[in-house]
Amino acid sequence: MPRNVFADKHIVLGVTGSIATYKAVALASALVQSGAHVDVIMTESATKMVQPLSFQAITHRPVLTDMFSLMAETDIGHVTLGKTADALLIAPATANTIAKLALGLADNLLTTTALAATCPIIVAPAMETNMWRHPATQANIATLRERGVRIVEPEAGYLASGASGVGRLAAPERILTALRRTLTPQDWAGRRVVVTAGGTREAIDPVRFISNHSSGAMGYAVAEAALDRGAHVTLISTARHIPTPEGATLIPVESARDMREAVLNAIQDADALFMAAAVADYRPADVAAQKIKKSDDDLVLRLVRNPDILADVKQVRPARLVVVGWAAETDHLIENARQKLERKGLDLIIANPVPQSFGDGRVQATLISRHGEPRPLEPMPKDALAHLILDAVHTLVQQRNQTG
Ligand code: CTP
Repeated sequence: MPRNVFADKHIVLGVTGSIATYKAVALASALVQSGAHVDVIMTESATKMVQPLSFQAITHRPVLTDMFSLMAETDIGHVTLGKTADALLIAPATANTIAKLALGLADNLLTTTALAATCPIIVAPAMETNMWRHPATQANIATLRERGVRIVEPEAGYLASGASGVGRLAAPERILTALRRTLTPQDWAGRRVVVTAGGTREAIDPVRFISNHSSGAMGYAVAEAALDRGAHVTLISTARHIPTPEGATLIPVESARDMREAVLNAIQDADALFMAAAVADYRPADVAAQKIKKSDDDLVLRLVRNPDILADVKQVRPARLVVVGWAAETDHLIENARQKLERKGLDLIIANPVPQSFGDGRVQATLISRHGEPRPLEPMPKDALAHLILDAVHTLVQQRNQTG
């Protein structure tokens, strides 16, 4: 089941007056494009930075300001808004509004709505560095956190004052990730998962290596989906080019042997292992200490077998660990994948035909477990596939915990 948690969700976007106010327009737009219904509440100072019409044009709904609140009160008032909405996102949130929220003041439509709200609240602060660092602001932030408000920490960078420091509104992707996680059912909360991603790199000399085409995208999709659903995620990865999903513990590795060591350590207290990495089966027998210089002769590299990580996991795995592997096959997909499932002692294997990716980024997969028929899936984006895999593994984790 592909998941777009924003579809048909009702989001109240609270916008306060900051130099970052204009960035909220892009946030509103991203939410509307994801299928959410967005009601914008602007404070008076926000309306001095950006015209309400900008938001209205994007959300196709009247923008609520103090001036129009009495008119709007008849159908979408401050009490109903915070009760019927799925989430209240305040971005950017000034130090002043944060202080009011911490104190429980209700002196404008936004703070009144927040005080009456029963939905989850997410706050993305934006302010000058000294204001952010001030003990008063930090104490207010701590108070909000204690009350269950999710804070999207501001970032370091260039500030409107001309100085550099912490205080910039978090990037839109980080704010949307926080909102997505707030809206996603937390069925993996309290579970620990280990995910491997990317193709291993087997050194030839200090500047060259042997690797494969694996992008790491599947592993990162599983990690992101597990984080969204509340899991604690250890990501063992060779893929340097992909940003680490927020909240993941990243263990960067290079070779199959590095990855093996990291995996065997990480699985000790884990509930599930997702071996999405493409592990090289062979490595150069000798790694040259210096860069190999070309000569007129041919160059012969002798390769030796790498450890099979899943075979080693099989020897030492804790009884409750659910182990998931991948099989990319050019022929006899189901038969080969089934054999791997048996040989490597897996609970589930994701069989992908090679070439597996469609031009639009969709992948085709068949889920094969120890019991039951193989489950061929429609081609779908990797994030949707990641959620389906997590659904299947969640059932196995629960069974393992009941019997274990
Ligand atoms: N794998 C592993 N250690 C290896 C090779 C693969 O743990 N040295 C894992 C992969 O991460 C994947 C699964 O085993 O989850 C299957 O990988 P694949 O390369 O298809 O299997 P191989 O055992 O290498 O079989 P083949 O002979 O088809 O290469």
